[in-house]
Amino acid sequence: MHLSSLPFLLVLISGIFCYYDYDTGYYPDPDDPYVHSMMGPSTAVCAPECNCPETYPSAMYCDDLKLKSIPIVPAGIKYLYLRNNMIEGIEENTFDNVTDLQWLILDHNHLENSKIKGRVFSKLKSLKKLHINYNNLTEAVGPLANTMDDLQLSHNKITKVSANVLEGLVNLTVFHLQNNQLKTDSVSGALKGLKSLLYLDLSFNQLTKLPKGLPPALLMLYFNNNQITNIPDEYFQGLKALQYLHLSHNRLTDGGIPGNVFNISSLVELDLSFNMLKSIPTVNENLENFYLQVNQINKFPLSSFCKVVGPLTYSRVQHLRLDGNNLTRSDLPQEMYNCLRVAADISLE
Ligand SMILES: *[C@@H]1O[C@H](CO)[C@@H](O)[C@H](O)[C@H]1NC(C)=O
Ligand SMILES: *[C@@H]1O[C@H](CO)[C@@H](O)[C@H](O)[C@H]1NC(C)=O
Ligand SMILES: *[C@@H]1O[C@H](CO)[C@@H](O)[C@H](O)[C@H]1NC(C)=O
Ligand SMILES: *[C@@H]1O[C@H](CO)[C@@H](O)[C@H](O)[C@H]1NC(C)=O
Ligand SMILES: *[C@@H]1O[C@H](CO)[C@@H](O)[C@H](O)[C@H]1NC(C)=O
Repeated sequence: MHLSSLPFLLVLISGIFCYYDYDTGYYPDPDDPYVHSMMGPSTAVCAPECNCPETYPSAMYCDDLKLKSIPIVPAGIKYLYLRNNMIEGIEENTFDNVTDLQWLILDHNHLENSKIKGRVFSKLKSLKKLHINYNNLTEAVGPLANTMDDLQLSHNKITKVSANVLEGLVNLTVFHLQNNQLKTDSVSGALKGLKSLLYLDLSFNQLTKLPKGLPPALLMLYFNNNQITNIPDEYFQGLKALQYLHLSHNRLTDGGIPGNVFNISSLVELDLSFNMLKSIPTVNENLENFYLQVNQINKFPLSSFCKVVGPLTYSRVQHLRLDGNNLTRSDLPQEMYNCLRVAADISLE
């Protein structure tokens, strides 16, 4: 599952529960935009070129307007959408009347770091969501308020994420940096203070090594489509909650994978497809989805999945992809199903 579908679901669910609570007299969270829609019109006015729906008046929509700069943002606006315009910069005073802005969505514009003036984002003391996907950034923006929850900077030309830009973001849970031009040294060390980070996407960059200092709460970690050749011993050891790990389309070889590095007991899904592996790395018995297609694997030792086999000690692998390797059915050991007891599908060809 990709986490990007989660916020929508959560909003939907919280919307339903708030409605219910409202009926029973509970006072709903006034910051929730879906609750606002049930609380009647607000006093917020709207920029003339934009749209502030009557049912959702603290949101201002200025999408698809060919805007070259951000319009006047009236006091009272908390959720600002400016997607698909031609905005290149942000003036220092742009948000002076809306320092309590919570969501700022700027995807598909032409923003450049040199044209974002002063510490314009650090004035936004309640900012939770900042999306600047598909722009022309060369560096991560900041400093940002420590209320931040969701930062998305994918599809830019970012080569640098300074440690001080992310400093103090103790509540950041989602960070998208995929499709940039990051090298290993440009992120190493910058992430370790992000105590609440659950989701980190560094796919489609130029990493040749894994960055140092990953934060400890991570649940989902995407490094696919880089140029990673090896994994340091015990690299994932501090990540006690890690469930999804994607390393497909890299340059991993057997020699670059220390023996127990993927024996991570929390892991549910491991994607090592499109690498240069000749053998199957050892994984924990709890792993459910294991993707190894398009490597150079030519043997199938059960010890990669089960050290011992017993009533309760067996592999939980359900989906195993081995197609695009040098393996046929006859290479699979007879006693396989004692260990791979719940494997619902093993694809070979
Ligand atoms: C802030 O609001 C004041 C009073 O309404 C207005 O004069 C000013 O232009 C606004 N500033 C910005 C940057 O929108
Ligand atoms: C991004 O910047 C480059 C120059 O650095 C420019 O050629 C290009 O048109 C810009 N792209 C956008 C979408 O603004
Ligand atoms: C972080 O989130 C917690 C729980 O929602 C909240 O109590 C706390 O104030 C937040 N911290 C910051 C710096 O916003
Ligand atoms: C994984 O590590 C645990 C100890 O942490 C060990 O008991 C288990 O046998 C290992 N799994 C495999 C398949 O080697
Ligand atoms: C594939 O495996 C067979 C038998 O296991 C071996 O003879 C052959 O050389 C292997 N081919 C490659 C490309 O590794």
